Amino acid sequence: MNILFYDTKKYDVDSFDAIKDQYPELTIDYVKTDLSPRTARLAKGYDAVCAFVSSDVSAPVLNVLGEAGVGLVLMRCAGFNNVDLAAADSNGIVVMRVPGYSPEAVAEHAMALAMAVNRRLHKSYIKVRENNFSLVGLTGMNFYGKTAGIVGTGKIGAAMARICRGFGMNVIAYDMYRNPDLDFVTYVELPELLGSSDLISLHCPLTDETYHMINEKTISCMKDHVILVNTSRGALIKTDDLIAGIRSRKFFGIGLDVYEEETPNVFENREDDILESSVTARLLSFPNVIVTSHQGFLTEEALEAISRTTLDNAMDYENGNIDNANRVK
Ligand code: NAI
Repeated sequence: MNILFYDTKKYDVDSFDAIKDQYPELTIDYVKTDLSPRTARLAKGYDAVCAFVSSDVSAPVLNVLGEAGVGLVLMRCAGFNNVDLAAADSNGIVVMRVPGYSPEAVAEHAMALAMAVNRRLHKSYIKVRENNFSLVGLTGMNFYGKTAGIVGTGKIGAAMARICRGFGMNVIAYDMYRNPDLDFVTYVELPELLGSSDLISLHCPLTDETYHMINEKTISCMKDHVILVNTSRGALIKTDDLIAGIRSRKFFGIGLDVYEEETPNVFENREDDILESSVTARLLSFPNVIVTSHQGFLTEEALEAISRTTLDNAMDYENGNIDNANRVK
């Protein structure tokens, strides 16, 4: 079985090459370019393509892949909101993903963002390097004894809830389904969570229902001086409303691993470019905002688990087990 990997970075090649000898039935070729209607043609002659979180897996791309004879799209990530599942189905293409490679990797990054913005580490790092040892502007708050509100208590949200409990926080959560493992969490409705939390961390998927769930109205329900962290998907937050909230001093801090319009930036070195969107620049202009570039997943353990599950998915497809638990329909 031949697989063409799109949008390949050095860490992908390193982690897949480390285990691919254990899958002698699979042949892998890597390309740096990402999927698009034009580059999808490169997949002619391949059985499968492997794509990532910001790849274009829309209907036009899937139509080209279908014509090229590709039968499988392997998403080497958990989210699949960038995949047109109806178009995959109509082209007879199976889509598989890696649902839970290392929830702790993302949850630990969410807490790292919360801690960094709370204690203004992004500012103190730069200040001390410039021999500025003043503490003015660096005052944070104790997390101990405060309330953490977790939106979405699946695998990552549950890991974040456990971390917050470890900090001595009171943990509340909102989800349509209660996670029975989280007996220390109090489930509440979303407005109550927003109004009671000192730290809000978003861990639900991007769906029609959750699109722009953080907007002018929901921001107005939040406590003043709240810290908001998003490691899930950028479009959970309506960025213009977030910026208005930051300007009105609603937030003590914001930590974003994902943001709207991140796609052209994610995983690219664009230091010599003039960015086409002003969203990133506007967010970065605020002293209480930290933005990272979708790196929540980036730990050795997570990369190893992603590689193994992706190649196991390929083998399941090869062996006719296409209805395994990792198939998305
Ligand atoms: P999961 O499927 O285990 O959990 C998602 C939870 O959200 C479920 O409990 C579900 O019931 C809940 N949910 C769904 N709709 C909701 C709504 N309207 N309101 C409240 N809760 C709702 O997913 P997992 O593995 O925890 O991942 C969560 C998200 O994290 C993914 O969808 C993905 O977007 C993001 N992610 C980000 C990464 C990064 O590198 N920053 C890496 C991996 C995932």
